[in-house]
Amino acid sequence: MNTPAPQRFLFVCLGNICRSPMAEGIFRAEALAAGLREETDFICDSCGTGSWHVGEAPDVRAQAALAEQGIDISGLTARQLRRADLSDFDWLLAMDRQNLAHIERMGRELPGGPQVSLFLDFSDMDHNGEVPDPYYGGEEGFLHCERLIRSASRGLIAHAFDRTLS
Ligand code: 4NP
Repeated sequence: MNTPAPQRFLFVCLGNICRSPMAEGIFRAEALAAGLREETDFICDSCGTGSWHVGEAPDVRAQAALAEQGIDISGLTARQLRRADLSDFDWLLAMDRQNLAHIERMGRELPGGPQVSLFLDFSDMDHNGEVPDPYYGGEEGFLHCERLIRSASRGLIAHAFDRTLS
């Protein structure tokens, strides 16, 4: 019997220390809670379009916002988006339109390729399509990101795996 390949999800922001590692952690937790198996059913990762924070752990405020929810992202390490990501992943989920434009410029000449979307296209929360960059703000910005990312994660899982979540 053929085992279907896992669907591969890459979350993309600017620095890969705030929004996209939060998205990776929340998406992983929601997918596991929905009964999906990591490696077998899904693979997820995150990266940044910029290189300033490569090698760093997520921002302590992002770590704290998720620790409150029982999600540990302290072991993640920032990396930069690379061209191979466009063939190594099935879904590239951009946190804002600047990230989306960056991915699209990088992938312009590739035939086929992954589905590239604004992550919040999968959220049913009221928003302008972007996860606001919380880096220069306070803790409340991180909590707002957490709520937006959670709703988009649930919507994406329902869409990609055709399952309804309780
Ligand atoms: P992120 O936030 O894109 O959500 O990781 C940022 C982190 C760092 C910077 C900008 C945004 N920065 O300019 O260093």
